Amino acid sequence: MNKEKVLVTSALPYANGQIHLGHLSGAYLPADIYVRYKRLKGDDVVYICGSDEHGVPITITADKEGVSPQAIIDRYHNQNKAAFEKFGMSFDIYSRTSIPEHHKTAQEFFLSFYNQGLLKEKKTMQFFDPEANKFLPDRYVEGTCPSCGYEEARSDECEKCGAIYEPTELVNPKSKISGGTPELRETSHWFFPLGHFQERLENYINEYSKKYGWKDNVLNYCRGWFKEGLNDRAVTRDLDWGVKVPLDDSDGKVLYVWFEAVLGYISATKKLFEEKGEPEKWREYWQSDDAKYIAFIGKDNIVFHTIIFPAMLMAWNDGNDDKYLLPQNVPANEFLNFEGKKFSKSRGWGINVNEFLRLYPADLLRYTLAANLPENKDTDFYWKEFQMRTNGDLAGVVGNFVNRTFTFAHKHFEGKVPPLADLGEIDKQMLAAIEQTPEKIAKLIETYKIKDAVFEIMTFARSCNKYFNDSEPWKSVKTDKEKCGTTINVALQAIYTLAEVFSPVIPFTSEKIFKMLNAEITDWFESGKPQLPENHQLNKAEILFAKIEDSEIEAQINKLSAVETEEKYDVPLITFEEFMKTDLRTAEIVSAEKIKKSKKLLKLQVDLGFEKRQVVAGIAEHYQPEELPGKKIILVANLKPAKLMGVESQGMILAVEDKEGKLSVVEMDKSISTGLKVR
Ligand code: MF3
Ligand code: ZN
Repeated sequence: MNKEKVLVTSALPYANGQIHLGHLSGAYLPADIYVRYKRLKGDDVVYICGSDEHGVPITITADKEGVSPQAIIDRYHNQNKAAFEKFGMSFDIYSRTSIPEHHKTAQEFFLSFYNQGLLKEKKTMQFFDPEANKFLPDRYVEGTCPSCGYEEARSDECEKCGAIYEPTELVNPKSKISGGTPELRETSHWFFPLGHFQERLENYINEYSKKYGWKDNVLNYCRGWFKEGLNDRAVTRDLDWGVKVPLDDSDGKVLYVWFEAVLGYISATKKLFEEKGEPEKWREYWQSDDAKYIAFIGKDNIVFHTIIFPAMLMAWNDGNDDKYLLPQNVPANEFLNFEGKKFSKSRGWGINVNEFLRLYPADLLRYTLAANLPENKDTDFYWKEFQMRTNGDLAGVVGNFVNRTFTFAHKHFEGKVPPLADLGEIDKQMLAAIEQTPEKIAKLIETYKIKDAVFEIMTFARSCNKYFNDSEPWKSVKTDKEKCGTTINVALQAIYTLAEVFSPVIPFTSEKIFKMLNAEITDWFESGKPQLPENHQLNKAEILFAKIEDSEIEAQINKLSAVETEEKYDVPLITFEEFMKTDLRTAEIVSAEKIKKSKKLLKLQVDLGFEKRQVVAGIAEHYQPEELPGKKIILVANLKPAKLMGVESQGMILAVEDKEGKLSVVEMDKSISTGLKVR
């Protein structure tokens, strides 16, 4: 088997918020599965990721919270790094774009383009906030997309339709800082001539997509861009947070975040090998013909990875002796939604990774997400499906099969692998399935059909379970122990293979199974051959998966209905305990009188049965004092005392207000006693 050198990257998430399940399904989990598989088959893989720490998303978050951008990136870089780790992401490095190596790399690219005479300086009109005395690039301005009419489009890019345009084209612009209509002011920026590269880019994409099987969604997207024609793109911004433009007289200007963020993959690789004490070795992955580069992303990042980044690499290669590889494939996923809607932090819709992993082990989430990856269309995370896949597939099929086999081995064969005797047809079939499985899964993963691979793995697990059932070892153990031993032997070999091919998806569980087998994981393709010798001693079995109770899932779904109810009625929801803090009591009005100089207020004496209270009520325009005595009402008995028009009030009586503003005191039947708690 040919060993490949593979460079794999996952999009660098912005360090301005916590990653959620949607991120995982897009650019991370599929890449991690691919990488783990590649390592098992012996390929030489470097897997790169890190935080994207510049750009307007960071400064807007910082402004909103009134803290420095540095505080924001430190917080989210650390949180996201921890979340990825807990989720089992096997990056070789989780870098960040604030490191000096990154600034240096980005500036070198800019200078190379500048020195080649590629960059053009142009005067442009930019949004400006006179109050804040700041230019407002990118997401600092929102308005209506000139191309599709989406109303929350950014100043130069529409999230909805993917259009990219000049700020002057945005309809109805609004400043994110002041909310007002921003002015346009002249400024000058450096432009990269994307159009110069169009022909080469088209050739590149035609050739690579055919040769390496790019996904249709990616290809169609690129073709759309080519059809429109590629234009000059500004690669600088008027901001003070970012990588400084490395030219004299460019104070207050930084490199456009997308221009430098993609170079974060390179700077991270440099950093990785610097830390390993082999500072030149990064070139073996980026710049040697026997390596290949795969960039995993979400669909919102396609243009940057298939057009802009490759054009930048071409431009570098034109002017320098060291030449970069272009991405061989860019497997972009569609989006994962949450229970039928888009993830939204502000609306409280969805769950972030740290929060999820406090509730459930990573492998459960990895399996559910992997089984449902948005490879060809958007998909959804549903709590019910998560429960079903955990209880049915993982606990019910995988856990059950492993557990039954181990129980038999320990109970009837002293915890050792029993010898193989004569093979029946059913055993031969199972051994054939074991042999074919690694090959079959490998083909799917090599072509980025991760979801299909996961389906095949589970199909294999089901066939293992069925083999156990159909072999009926509980019968043969009494009548033909050798035959029973054969079944358990084959089942144990199948567990080995299953643990191997499942390890990219559920690595933590796979490790547990290998511990139980008292065996080491082997080369991917070797695992199709029986790996456990006769008499091999097994370890004790462990529970692999705990079932998820209905009540746990209901609690999660209840939280979501609460979010929906709040949205529908536009009121915050309170808990039962919060409601019970209000001490509502039945009471009787004893007397009522007007308060001097007040049109609205009446002074009431009310009887709670166990004590009397004086209450000031705003009902003078709706009741005459003599109408009130004798009425049984409801009193908020634990309201903090307050003075109204100089008169002490020790509670509040409940009343309803109709559409015309008329107040009616809430009255109880006269037969009801005073002092009772309302609940
Ligand atoms: N931060 C970007 C996002 O979250 C992705 C950047 S990918 C990179 O959409 F290649 F530019 F780093
Ligand atoms: Zn649009």
